Amino acid sequence: MEKLKLAVIFGGMSTEHDVSIVSGSSVLKNLNKDKYDITPIYIDQNGDWFLYTKNLNEIEIPEVGEQPTELESISNPIEILKKVDVVFPVLHGLYGEDGTIQGLFELLKIPYVGCRVLGSSLCMDKAYTKVVLDKAKINQAQYAYIRKFDDKYILVDDEFNESILDIEELCEKVIDKCGLPVFVKPSNSGSSVGINKAKDKEQLKNAIEYASKFDKKIVIEENINAREVECAVIGNEIVEASCVGEILPAEDFYSFDAKYKNAESRVVIPANLDESISEEIRKTAIKAFKAVDGKGLSRVDFFVEKETNKIYLNEINTLPGFTTISMYPQLWEKCGKGYSELLDELIENALNF
Ligand SMILES: Nc1ncnc2c1ncn2[C@@H]1O[C@H](COP(=O)(O)OP(=O)(O)O)[C@@H](O)[C@H]1O
Ligand SMILES: [Mg+2]
Repeated sequence: MEKLKLAVIFGGMSTEHDVSIVSGSSVLKNLNKDKYDITPIYIDQNGDWFLYTKNLNEIEIPEVGEQPTELESISNPIEILKKVDVVFPVLHGLYGEDGTIQGLFELLKIPYVGCRVLGSSLCMDKAYTKVVLDKAKINQAQYAYIRKFDDKYILVDDEFNESILDIEELCEKVIDKCGLPVFVKPSNSGSSVGINKAKDKEQLKNAIEYASKFDKKIVIEENINAREVECAVIGNEIVEASCVGEILPAEDFYSFDAKYKNAESRVVIPANLDESISEEIRKTAIKAFKAVDGKGLSRVDFFVEKETNKIYLNEINTLPGFTTISMYPQLWEKCGKGYSELLDELIENALNF
């Protein structure tokens, strides 16, 4: 049988570039080489494209921060893409998980793994994810949506009415709505970059100013005292949810360092939860994935409030971490889908879209 021509793209221009190198290397290492004729493509932080010329049978999984060598500059990425049957963008964050590169694949009419343009861009944007999930009546943390405007801020209410406020007035309104502590997040971000927990008004001011360096749109959320659990989904119209896994962050919250640098952060699969709660999480994960027009795959992240066991949807990651120890492949491994078979299924879903 002729091999399927598959391009795997990794790296990318986001703050999650380094994580994508690890994810991409894991995918390249585990793809069935008898089935696929693989073109590995690396995008550097400036957006330049390269062929990754390393022998795929010799790939080692790098540490976060290690950069690929053995690169050959690509002068015309479109020519390369046009020659393949399907693309797997193993890219996280802006310009990879946000619908932009998906738009390029649509223009070129190349099948690709994962969410389409709309689902990708919606889920990349925390403010707009919340709007859609509210409509689907999925429970989420109380939140405020603000935008930076010159040296002031625009507070956007639930009906999209706007008020222009200075930072003092803004903080008061936010605390009225969300209490303290709160989580302050750039609307378009990932891997916890730009996110801070603020325990008082002064910290809130600083956190808002810090988040505004990453995005003009900012989401502020009430703090949920919760366990953090995640559920993987796969499929286009017929969507399957995995068992639920729990994260035990080694720090006060699951910050960038806790995710990638602190070996003490652990995952527990399956999470120790009542079956009725796990079932509710799985159902909600599928409902949310469909509500945001998800396709292919996503990892849906939840909080389970410690005191009440109430579930809150935190976010939907349309291209979750893909290292062999990442939650997404591990959740499927527990359900009997090994890493390589999982990749096959994702690629099949891309071709059968
Ligand atoms: N409302 C909240 N209550 C409690 N913890 C939160 C809240 N929002 C975020 N966190 C903590 O911050 C981490 C990162 O936030 P998240 O919204 O998942 O951002 P990212 O998209 O960067 O992963 C979460 O994994 C969790 O540990
Ligand atoms: Mg997260």
